Amino acid sequence: MEDYHIVELISEEELKVRISELAEQLNKDYAGKELHLVVILKGSVFFACELAKQLTMPVTMDFMAVSSYGDGMVSAGDITVKKELDEDIYDKDVLIVEDVLDSGVTLYNLGILLKARMPQSLKIITLLDKKDNHEAGIKADYVGFEIPDKFVVGYGLDYSQKHRNLPYVGEIVIEQ
Ligand code: IMP
Ligand code: MG
Repeated sequence: MEDYHIVELISEEELKVRISELAEQLNKDYAGKELHLVVILKGSVFFACELAKQLTMPVTMDFMAVSSYGDGMVSAGDITVKKELDEDIYDKDVLIVEDVLDSGVTLYNLGILLKARMPQSLKIITLLDKKDNHEAGIKADYVGFEIPDKFVVGYGLDYSQKHRNLPYVGEIVIEQ
């Protein structure tokens, strides 16, 4: 593998502050409702936990693993369900929790899959949004941070399964 280093892009403190703001917004938007979080494994787990702890409505959580990427950094264009949800989402207010919206292909396909199960509502929250890369005409309802087209790791995000445990989000810089 090529040599690389990681440069901090979003600090632990910035993440904390922004996630609290997102939680506050959700507490307003879903006031009086129950919220069912569909957490997309594995990258979204850190974000989902931090967010869920600050939600004040009744919350349920389920987990799903899908993949559109292999081990590298290039998008493939279709999704495979690697782990199905445990519970039915019919009639529930569902919020998909994603780590990063890149091309949007993953969420586009996931949206089709989940809409067919007829939830009461279906929205998307993503911690990071590479806005310039969207292909599938999909948009997140809630965005933590808009980031440039850089490959990032940390706070759940990986490069070949590594660096998920970093408390900040950093950019992978390949050494020439
Ligand atoms: P999309 O289908 O192109 O939007 O890709 C979304 C998925 O690709 C995310 O859920 C991540 O798992 C992965 N991904 C995209 N960009 C990055 C990145 O910069 N770092 C780590 N994973 C990424
Ligand atoms: Mg992901």
